[in-house]
Amino acid sequence: MTKKIPSSILVSIYLALGITGVYLGLEPLFNLVESSIIYQGLIFFFISFLILVVALEWVVFRRLKNLQSVNQREIKKLKDLETYRREFLGEVSHELKTPIFAIQGFIHTLIDGAMNDDRVKVKFLKKAMKNADRLSNLVEDLLIITQAESGEMEMKIRKFPIYDMARDVVDMLEYKFTKKNRNISCKIISKVQEEAMVLADRERIQQVLTNLIDNAVKYGSVDGDVKIILEPKEEKILISVEDTGPGIEKQHLDKIFRRFYRVDKSRSRDKGGTGLGLSICKHLIKMHGEQIYVESEPGKGTRFSFTLKKA
Ligand SMILES: Nc1ncnc2c1ncn2[C@@H]1O[C@H](COP(=O)(O)OP(=O)(O)OP(=O)(O)O)[C@@H](O)[C@H]1O
Ligand SMILES: [Mg+2]
Repeated sequence: MTKKIPSSILVSIYLALGITGVYLGLEPLFNLVESSIIYQGLIFFFISFLILVVALEWVVFRRLKNLQSVNQREIKKLKDLETYRREFLGEVSHELKTPIFAIQGFIHTLIDGAMNDDRVKVKFLKKAMKNADRLSNLVEDLLIITQAESGEMEMKIRKFPIYDMARDVVDMLEYKFTKKNRNISCKIISKVQEEAMVLADRERIQQVLTNLIDNAVKYGSVDGDVKIILEPKEEKILISVEDTGPGIEKQHLDKIFRRFYRVDKSRSRDKGGTGLGLSICKHLIKMHGEQIYVESEPGKGTRFSFTLKKA
């Protein structure tokens, strides 16, 4: 390993060389060797002083320039953070407004007399409850996003069988959708051994898979099929969720993972969506050092896939 020469030694060497060079250059002009010792000393002192001033200015100038570029970088970072904070606050307030106003509206109508009509009463209370649930989902999702974006999220990386986990998620969601009278079939197609293990945070991956399957069912065709495919990809396992729904148009594909981005705003809100599901998926997969992709063909369907390390 080469040792770095300290800059103070380098500066001294350059100074000595510079002074000697200028002295020797001036010698033929002023015939210094033959002049008095005081005159020689004065010239020598003057040259040294001049070079020292130039060298100092050069050092100070470089330091200032470095400082300036560091400052500019810091200022840009702070400005970006400020923009992020402002945008985030704006989006959050906007998203909170809708369910809060709805709850407020239903309660006011109930107090203003609707409470006396039993049929309307139950209907309005159910609507208020739906919006309160939405509010609670939103706050929960916001907490996850904030934790992930600030890097405060704790990950519990362990090995677990990916097929079993996919099975659990499918069973849970199938139950939820049959309760809603949706005739969806979720198939797991495993091209890896059923006992294949991955190295990841089980709970977080379960959340990613739940979000993706939930989307496939919500936005897919009414009685369509959803496939969960597990396949080997180099040293990893690729997990895909495929639906046969209307697909996503090209212009939305690169924005789909942004927080609060919805292709069809009213449809998503109608289904109780916060628009944070895919953004959370992206963060959680990124925290595993992996990537999530989307491919879609309008009219044919959509496929979301991500990789996980094999254990
Ligand atoms: N499989 C899919 N097919 C078609 N569109 C989809 C699909 N998955 C997601 N989208 C579109 O992407 C948008 C963003 O999805 P995301 O999961 O982030 O939010 P959401 O589903 O609206 O809300 P949440 O996930 O909180 O319930 C959706 O609103 C929908 O328009
Ligand atoms: Mg979703």
